[in-house]
Amino acid sequence: MKHFLKFLDMSGEEITELLDLAGELKKKQKAGEVYQPLKGKSVAMIFRKSSTRTRVSFEVGIAQLGATPLFLSSADIQLGRGESIADTARVLSRYVDGIMIRTFDQQEVEDLAQYGTVPVINGLTDFSHPCQVMADLQTIKEHKGRLNGLKLAFIGDGNNMANALIVGGLKVGLSVSIACPKAYSPDPAVLEFAKGYPGKFTLTEDIFEAAAGADVLYTDVWASMGQESEREARAKAFQAYQINEALMRAAKPDAMVLHCLPAHKGEEISEGVFEAHAQEIFDEAENRLHAQKAILVKLMA
Ligand code: CP
Ligand code: NVA
Repeated sequence: MKHFLKFLDMSGEEITELLDLAGELKKKQKAGEVYQPLKGKSVAMIFRKSSTRTRVSFEVGIAQLGATPLFLSSADIQLGRGESIADTARVLSRYVDGIMIRTFDQQEVEDLAQYGTVPVINGLTDFSHPCQVMADLQTIKEHKGRLNGLKLAFIGDGNNMANALIVGGLKVGLSVSIACPKAYSPDPAVLEFAKGYPGKFTLTEDIFEAAAGADVLYTDVWASMGQESEREARAKAFQAYQINEALMRAAKPDAMVLHCLPAHKGEEISEGVFEAHAQEIFDEAENRLHAQKAILVKLMA
């Protein structure tokens, strides 16, 4: 593994190995053990979009591993004034040992990896959010004791989260059901990939069909970063796509609920369901730290 760009590039074994490492690193952290395999190194973090979890968990995780994090908002670096990704990649590669980027177009992440000479990590694009899904899988594994054979149902927009959950989930043995309006389906490349998993993947407009017998219910905002102007149209299209008490009754009685956050309670999830599952949801947020440390160690140590 040279980069962490999207699950389509990875094998199920590689994902499982990273999850095991994330579990070990979490144990070390909880035991107060200092573990600094990246001492003396630096990691640049480029943000073209806002962030709470990704920024803080990467910055803290990099520091815990002994390296120096550099927060680079695109508003403050020349990238924001039109310097190309290719040149930015070649410059940063002369200074730092790894680059994390949050941006719009997946192609920018791919270009960064192509033109740079250091490992690149995708911290969210419009296409995928693989760091989040690593934390999601770690959380499911902790709460359920396994991944293989469990059913995950995603309710809402066929967005970056849905794309990453489908590919990452199927690769580690989950069954994945997506409920979304037709006009908001997951990426065609992802649906093509899912064709290789007959009987393990369903795409429907019916939230109750998707949630039936699910072990994990998952949702995300109706309008993602960059879609602010579509908010009204999306609110209409997604009105019926909510995880609430009625939908919970379709899932297994011990079903977990996950949300990548930030949440819009009363839209994609009811306040009651969110609070009833807050322990799982905030474990999930915490696991961003441990999962990303595993990615950093794997790529850079
Ligand atoms: N879930 C997630 O990536 O959160 P942030 O946008 O706060 O980083
Ligand atoms: N789909 C959301 C995820 C935020 C973590 C977005 O892209 O804004």
